[in-house]
Amino acid sequence: MKIERICILGGAGFVGSRLVSQLAARGLQVRVLSRRREAAKDLILLPAVEVIEADVHDRQELIRHFRGMDAVINLVGILHENKVGRVDLPGARRGDFQKAHIELPRKVVHACGEAGVHRLLHMSALGANPNSRSAYQRSKGIGEALVREAGMQHIEHENWYLNGPKFIHGYGLDVTIFRPSVIFGRGDSFLSMFARLLKVFPMLPLASAGARFAPVHVDDVARAYADSLDNPATYGQTYDLCGPKVYTLQELVRYVGEVTGKPRRIVPLGDLLSYLQAWAMEFKPGKKLMTRDNFFAMCVDNVCSGGWPSVFDFQPAALEAIAPEYLRADTPRARYEGYRENARR
Ligand SMILES: NC(=O)c1ccc[n+]([C@@H]2O[C@H](COP(=O)([O-])OP(=O)(O)OC[C@H]3O[C@@H](n4cnc5c(N)ncnc54)[C@H](OP(=O)(O)O)[C@@H]3O)[C@@H](O)[C@H]2O)c1
Repeated sequence: MKIERICILGGAGFVGSRLVSQLAARGLQVRVLSRRREAAKDLILLPAVEVIEADVHDRQELIRHFRGMDAVINLVGILHENKVGRVDLPGARRGDFQKAHIELPRKVVHACGEAGVHRLLHMSALGANPNSRSAYQRSKGIGEALVREAGMQHIEHENWYLNGPKFIHGYGLDVTIFRPSVIFGRGDSFLSMFARLLKVFPMLPLASAGARFAPVHVDDVARAYADSLDNPATYGQTYDLCGPKVYTLQELVRYVGEVTGKPRRIVPLGDLLSYLQAWAMEFKPGKKLMTRDNFFAMCVDNVCSGGWPSVFDFQPAALEAIAPEYLRADTPRARYEGYRENARR
């Protein structure tokens, strides 16, 4: 089936805005659902892109906005909870991870079924696993399993978490799931955060310094989505997406320091101090830099076991080819130019 109209949840975010740009450049019609239309204003001027302010957690709104679409892409995800809950106990306090990573995918699957949409692309994360020690990764793992089941015709439930009361299974959706390692690119929150910290602090005590990542460029992730949309070979598949090289966190932070002209001393912390630092940072008001849950996630390597999926006819970009340009220019003016570039204006 030719895919021409796509509805995207989370399309105004870091990955989403790059993906929307790529889809628009391919002449596709894109509908972005956002909680705040204002947050997506850079996308509004793109040809054939409409941004609709919507409550994506409302089932009826989802069904209404999905009607007439050929595909749905769900990119919604959060790294930190404001309202902390449990994702692994039925009836336990419901937190933000539960809502964004489990309940929302369930509603999306249901709404696809109701609206007659047959194609669904879902964003998970490398390391997502219903049995992870990290609630972020557990919730992502459960959400991923729900979506995978939506691609099946017949389902036998063995796990309580797949058996939510309103989950109607067996839609036979053509589902593709993506599990990227950490994503870099202009506007990222990972490398750019370290660039900002290195500007301020003369030395950096670094939690989980030995954690391993294979950073993948945001445009490569977006292209993998765009290329798989109407490629039947990707139906029912799950793809781990990694960049070409593996780095420890310490190597990455050192690299950011070199590139930005702030080669600070990095002091790697052991496990106990890493945990305590993460705990202490949870009390920081405003945007969180690190939590104990992030620490648990980083206890497991965030790297791919295989190479770049051969179904995608390109190779992922090297960090060194892209990062210097935007990390060196991390000034308010340069960030503004970056937003304009993202929106192709
Ligand atoms: N960035 C990475 O390194 C990385 C790595 C692996 C996986 N991922 C996954 O990739 C996806 C996109 O990541 P990103 O870096 O682009 O994140 P982002 O910039 O924060 O964008 C996420 C989007 O999700 C929506 N969203 C966030 N919380 C929501 C909530 N409670 N209810 C409804 N919508 C909500 C927001 O849409 P509106 O504000 O427009 O409503 C936002 O634009 C996420 O699922 C993330 O877990 C990211």
